[in-house]
Amino acid sequence: MLRFTDVSYEYQTRNAALQALGGLSFAVEEGDSLVIIGPSGCGKSTALLLACGLLQPSGGEVLVAGRPLDAPRQSTALILQDFGLLPWKTVLQNAALGLEIRKVARRERENRARAALQSVGLGDFLQAFPRELSGGMRQRLALARALALDVSLICMDEPLSAVDTMLRESLQDLLLVLWHERGYTSLLVTHSIEEAVFLGRRILVLSARPGRLSALIDNPGMGTAAYRGDAAFYAKCSELRRALAGEGDAANKGNAVEENGVASKAVAAGKGAFDAR
Ligand SMILES: Nc1ncnc2c1ncn2[C@@H]1O[C@H](COP(=O)(O)OP(=O)(O)OP(=O)(O)O)[C@@H](O)[C@H]1O
Ligand SMILES: [Mg+2]
Repeated sequence: MLRFTDVSYEYQTRNAALQALGGLSFAVEEGDSLVIIGPSGCGKSTALLLACGLLQPSGGEVLVAGRPLDAPRQSTALILQDFGLLPWKTVLQNAALGLEIRKVARRERENRARAALQSVGLGDFLQAFPRELSGGMRQRLALARALALDVSLICMDEPLSAVDTMLRESLQDLLLVLWHERGYTSLLVTHSIEEAVFLGRRILVLSARPGRLSALIDNPGMGTAAYRGDAAFYAKCSELRRALAGEGDAANKGNAVEENGVASKAVAAGKGAFDAR
């Protein structure tokens, strides 16, 4: 479904080139769920933008469904941390936005948006505006917009980092249910160890910048809400924490991961004002 082969990426800044990714290789099977985790500034968001075709690799190759990506792909959705909601459009119009951009006729796009909103529990808020929604509801609206597109690959950049722990867990449950029901391939970036282990069938640990594959952890036990209470879940969290420990040390002592959902991320030195988020 998605394959990175020796992918590197350099940002051109005013004074110099900044290497964000340094030869990253991995593959995600169709319908699988891959989580990317790693120190702050190691290139996670960059990897996601490359997977969506919004950036082109400086070296190596990104293949989606067997094809090199020379432009954004219609059948990929991207959910950013700030949701990208338009304040002057209703919930229904916001959910239909991706379809509007793809020039789907009004009636069809509203039907698909309505169905997607229902699946995330927003069926009663079609005519509300984003400012009238809570943070968790806005997050679900952003998710509905991606679902309405009926895409085969959904890329998510820390989609739940702005919500509190309880809500975050219920949204994680929702993501799990939707992934099972819809069968899309999921690529998710997170700073949370627990979230990675709950949602990732495989977990890719990136090294400090320039990001390279540091570890790839198989997590066959994931897939049910009950996993969160399982001894195997805690063991997997420990395994991931160990894999991250070395990388965290290397990342300018920026505490890059969250413990129990509490953000402890320091601003890593060297991380410029151009964060892709
Ligand atoms: N548009 C840009 N122009 C120049 N440099 C950039 C740009 N976007 C990101 N970078 C730099 O590339 C590196 C990787 O950035 P990226 O946003 O991919 O990291 P990240 O792993 O997502 O970090 P975080 O966990 O903090 O979100 C960082 O050093 C960042 O400063
Ligand atoms: Mg990022």
